[in-house]
Formats: sequence, C-alpha cells, structure tokens
Amino acid sequence: MKGFGNYSKEIMRHFTDPKFVGEIKNPDGVGEIGNMKCGDVLRISLKVKNDKISNIKFKTFGCVAAIASSDVLCELAKGKTIEEAKKISNAEIIKELKGMPSIKEHCSVLGAGALKKAIKNYEEKGNSNS
Ligand code: FES
Repeated sequence: MKGFGNYSKEIMRHFTDPKFVGEIKNPDGVGEIGNMKCGDVLRISLKVKNDKISNIKFKTFGCVAAIASSDVLCELAKGKTIEEAKKISNAEIIKELKGMPSIKEHCSVLGAGALKKAIKNYEEKGNSNS
C-alpha cells in the first residue's frame, strides 16, 4: 500500500499516531536542536537506568517528517545502552521509515542530533548508572 503523497505508510503511521510525544519530568538528559533551513526546533528528554535509556520523549514544532523521524528514533533508542544509542544513524531512521523524500531529509536529521545532545547532557552531569 502506498503512503500519503511522497510519504511512506510508515512515515504517516508515526506522524498520525506518535508514541513518544511529550516531555519527561526530571530528565537525566535533555537535548535541543534547531533546523537551520526552516527554524523548527526539536527537544529530546530521556531517563537512564543501569546505563540504558529507560524512557525517552520528544517535542517538536517541526513538520510531518520531523515528527515521524523523531518518533522512530525514540522507538529505536528506548532500551538501548548509551553507547548503542550513540550509534543510531540517520540512515537507520530513514530505513525504518521505508524512505524519506530527499527534500525532507534535513528534517529527519533533527532527531539523531537532539539525541546526541541529550546524551552529552547526561554525561556532562557526571551521571553514571542512575
Ligand atoms: Fe522544519 Fe521539517 S520543515 S523540520
């Protein structure tokens, strides 16, 4: 089955029914990133337990592609160790979404960028296993 317009069915599923929207109270790490092309902003907050991402949420003023890619990023990151989560690539996110129109790829890189910042924030706090 085809997706909506140039968007895959997977993108539309994550856009219309995202599971990871929100903000975590008392997060262990927070990362925020802006999109230079459109000015949209994405924020990731996460909780870490025993070196694993136990909870993760995102908030964005971004578009369909930004919402879908952030949601799939959170899905991929949850349960991973910090080191594993650092390795999540944009290519992996796009693969999970069964492709992304090239004109929207600048939107899909936001999630991975915000996650890296959130992890850095976690590490800078000197957290080990919380
Ligand atoms: Fe701004 Fe997609 S147009 S994040």
